[in-house]
Amino acid sequence: MKQITRDNREWFQEWANEYDNTLGKVKRHHKLLDLVVRESGVKRNDLVLDIGCGTGLLSLKFLDKADCSVTAIDSSAQMLEIFREKIEKCNLNGKIHCIQISAEDMVFEPGQFDIVAATVALHHVKYKEPVIKNIYNCLKDGGRFVLGEMDIDTTGKPDDPQRLVRILQYLIREYELAMKDGGVQAFERMYDNGKKHILNDGEYCIGMGQWEKLCRDAGFKNAEVSPVKGFEWFKVLVATK
Ligand SMILES: C[S@@+](CC[C@H](N)C(=O)[O-])C[C@H]1O[C@@H](n2cnc3c(N)ncnc32)[C@H](O)[C@@H]1O
Repeated sequence: MKQITRDNREWFQEWANEYDNTLGKVKRHHKLLDLVVRESGVKRNDLVLDIGCGTGLLSLKFLDKADCSVTAIDSSAQMLEIFREKIEKCNLNGKIHCIQISAEDMVFEPGQFDIVAATVALHHVKYKEPVIKNIYNCLKDGGRFVLGEMDIDTTGKPDDPQRLVRILQYLIREYELAMKDGGVQAFERMYDNGKKHILNDGEYCIGMGQWEKLCRDAGFKNAEVSPVKGFEWFKVLVATK
């Protein structure tokens, strides 16, 4: 079978301009982000790292909730450009600092952040273990890693029919919600992304149990998982250092 490999960045550059009109319109996505912010317990003066910030939907919700400061990283220049326009427009230059860098390459001082958060970004990272270890290191003692992700294990061979059926069960619901909330444009984008899940082309999802294990192996003391109400495929994990 032909192996499809495309630079993640290229794909997100292309998606950036319509991100807020596609996934950004889907209510269950906002429910996930709201749950992440709520579970993070963010408070005044906290230093927050948002990994794979995209157009800034999560970072802005953190700032809505508390007078914190956010460092936001993403590998896509185009996503960050859109986010920077919002920062400028909302006069938030002193509160948000954006850096174009991949999660795999980020270097921060040990013990720098109160909260590290990532929503539907880290499943794009193929080799997750070193990234989770890096997240652990850059958190303060007692700091929290808050992960909002799909709870579906898509590892395995792309030509395994049982795996295909399992992924399609998730995608049916995903497509239904995209069409309902974002119309044809959102559906079309999620439909294209669905093929990437099936072919393991830039989408490398694992189950919440697997994320939990990665966190414990990295040294986190405990990890608690909460479901997004009404959409069982999405969960929020809070791991404490
Ligand atoms: C589905 S979007 C999520 C954006 C935002 N967190 C949200 O919830 O709306 C995934 C984001 O992760 C970024 N991304 C993908 N792979 C990445 C990597 N290896 N390092 C950093 N960012 C990455 C993409 O550029 C994109 O902006």
